[in-house]
Amino acid sequence: MFELLSSLCLSLSLGLAFGFVFIYFLFVKHVHNIKDDSLPPGSMGWPLLGETLAFLKPHKSNTMGCFLQERCSRYGKVFKSHLFGSPTIVSCDHELNMFILQNEEKLFQSSYPKPIYKIFGEQCLLVVRGDVHKKIKSVVLSFISMSKSKPEYLDVIDKRAASITESWKGRNEVMFCNETMKFTFSFMVKQILSLEPEDPLTSTILQDFHTFMKGVVSLPLHLPGTSYAKAVEARGRILSSVRTIMEERRKWGVVLAKGDFLDVLLSSIDLTENMKESIVLDLLLAGYETTSNLLAVTVYFLGHSHNALKQLKEEHHAIRKEKQKGEPLNMEDYKKMEFTQNVINEALRCGNIVKFLHRKALTDVNYKGYLIPSGWKVLPILTAAHLNPSLHENATEFNPWRWKGQEMSKNLQAFGGGRRLCPGAELGKLEVAFFIHHLVLNYRWRMKREDYPLAYPYVEFKRGLLLEIESTN
Ligand code: HEM
Repeated sequence: MFELLSSLCLSLSLGLAFGFVFIYFLFVKHVHNIKDDSLPPGSMGWPLLGETLAFLKPHKSNTMGCFLQERCSRYGKVFKSHLFGSPTIVSCDHELNMFILQNEEKLFQSSYPKPIYKIFGEQCLLVVRGDVHKKIKSVVLSFISMSKSKPEYLDVIDKRAASITESWKGRNEVMFCNETMKFTFSFMVKQILSLEPEDPLTSTILQDFHTFMKGVVSLPLHLPGTSYAKAVEARGRILSSVRTIMEERRKWGVVLAKGDFLDVLLSSIDLTENMKESIVLDLLLAGYETTSNLLAVTVYFLGHSHNALKQLKEEHHAIRKEKQKGEPLNMEDYKKMEFTQNVINEALRCGNIVKFLHRKALTDVNYKGYLIPSGWKVLPILTAAHLNPSLHENATEFNPWRWKGQEMSKNLQAFGGGRRLCPGAELGKLEVAFFIHHLVLNYRWRMKREDYPLAYPYVEFKRGLLLEIESTN
């Protein structure tokens, strides 16, 4: 019996070893088909796994993290690696990053890892390309300009911010990340689906989005009980909620028409059903999580900068002084929030909401004597421009005054660039500015326990940013 077991074990080990050597051979051969001295320097790490785990190791989001720091000092700002299952060129070079973004669909193309397709869906704007991308993006842009053209949309943002901060009266602490998510999510579902915060479907969909987001940053193992599998299921539930609302609207026609984005979407004859559902998901997802994180990092950095907070308060008190009690903010007020805009730009720079983008080279590209081989993954690291001391003096310091008199410059890449430039940038910043208005006018706050924004790689506060608050009126 023992002999049988040991010979079984021996054959199994030999089999595994043989398989391992075979895979390694294929991997090395594939990479070395390309003349090594034309590639940027770097290391390919372990077979199959490459260096992905080291690359994804969480770090404070206002730093580059050990992986990038070490590689940049050893190999320079452009280096090769093996990430997310592909040979990869990583770029911390600002000029190269701009070149990559400006050449979308010509020399480079958006290319998210396969498991992302399953989780976001085949029609998600982040993953579709070419004409389909153009078509869906124009619908998304029309949603944003439609929102902006309605004066009520500013009222909705203002009212949501006021009612959330109002609901804290009598409390002495809040889990700030939960509140920011409630705020940005309730605004998006109102604009797109006309759902109110107290509508039970709003909290059901929000809950499903939490599960969904956990899966996005998890290991893509589609096994029962894993975060990834739960996220795929959560996406299915969100889709089915959206479908139910769509069917109801169709069934009842004008009776249920709300004049919202869903009505516009339903009346389109150019889009397939799949596209319509996917656009709703794209907007909900892209529009709430990023803005909610931006709001949290803004409050975090303000909490560490007494002078910035003081100047910010003065700006908002001056704006409020010229208004009637309870009068909602309008576009004129927003334009007066000059220092607030500087604070938000600086929070974008230091907070690094999106650390890097996924691209692939469509053809061999030569850049400063290096080859970026066709088919290789290319990762432009957005954080690199933000923390580059030759672009931003004392880059590690939170200093909103550096943006004084400056429009959003090309040295701020928080919203990407080129054809895939974020369409929601202005909308997101406006939501943050309005919330800050209600926060600074009504509360003093400080962090109740140690917490900081982590690049996970998407920004996250590990402990939810618990704030001790005190009402000031
Ligand atoms: C305020 C914080 C935000 C940040 C930091 C942010 C960041 C980004 C970045 C970096 C991209 C580029 C992705 C790529 O090139 O692969 C992007 C794309 C996108 N964002 Fe945002 N975003 C924010 C807010 C919003 C909002 C409020 C909306 C919607 C209302 C939105 C909708 C989108 C969409 C639909 C895309 C895909 C664009 C495309 O592929 O052409 N974002 N965002």
